[in-house]
Amino acid sequence: MKVLLATEKPFAAKAVDGIREIIENAGHELIPLEKYTQKSELIEAVAEVDAMIVRSDKVTADVIDAARNLKIVVRAGAGYDNIDLARCTERGIVVMNTPGQNSNAVAELAISMMIYMSRNLFKPGTGCEISGRHLGIIGFGNIGELIAKKAVGLGMEVLVYTNEVKERHKRWNTTFSKDKLYSTCDFVSINIPATPMTKKSVNYDHIAQMPYGACLVNTARKELIDEEGLIKALEERPDLKYVTDIAPERYEEMKEKFGDRVFATPKKMGAETAEANINAGLAAAHQIVEYFELGSTRFQVNK
Ligand code: 3PG
Repeated sequence: MKVLLATEKPFAAKAVDGIREIIENAGHELIPLEKYTQKSELIEAVAEVDAMIVRSDKVTADVIDAARNLKIVVRAGAGYDNIDLARCTERGIVVMNTPGQNSNAVAELAISMMIYMSRNLFKPGTGCEISGRHLGIIGFGNIGELIAKKAVGLGMEVLVYTNEVKERHKRWNTTFSKDKLYSTCDFVSINIPATPMTKKSVNYDHIAQMPYGACLVNTARKELIDEEGLIKALEERPDLKYVTDIAPERYEEMKEKFGDRVFATPKKMGAETAEANINAGLAAAHQIVEYFELGSTRFQVNK
């Protein structure tokens, strides 16, 4: 089988070596397409392949339709909002993700972002400490839980939003009330997937009720934030801050208006560690081999 590794944002070399080894040892061929810049390159590369490994690469209907032999797409990572699931399902193409494999990298980034904002973006001046501060977590999956554990180690008080107390929530302070979480937490970390239900679910009413000096932390997706509402809250409240791993649509304008109260990484870097690349990349390769050898559909997201 031909397996395309299509990564506009490439994996660490070690991860690519590991992926190649797994694919080739199973008798398949690996076709790398790294750092491509044009969609046409992807469309051309998918023509003959049976499987694809991608990161945030956009697997849209035209890409899927150009891939005549495609049987499986594995998103090496957590969020699969970059893949047209409906089109894949129509074509009978299996889509999987690799849950948990890059979570630690994202959790470490979220923690570092809180410190970065508390220390004035490492510019001279008096900042504050995160120890003793309240951290609210929206989205208690693999990433949310890891952030919570690390935050406790740093002396933070953690409050988790959930609408159902499951086993994994039991050792944590939980609340069913988003209002309670936003109004009492100095930091709120967003760790939910982008779905039609969650898009723009972080809105003005939430942000505007955060305590004095609070900071919203987004390592998930920009679509989760109602940008108009965020801007309005930042305009009205000169003490509020926003830090994100995905630049907002109106980032330049926001930087001009709000200066160091707003910071976005230049390119999404939550999963940009060698460890995360290796974990997610190798998991994706194994999942493809197991699918072809055993028909295993564990981690399929379009069942
Ligand atoms: C994910 O959903 O796994 C993260 O957002 C990482 O995305 P990336 O592979 O594009 O860095």
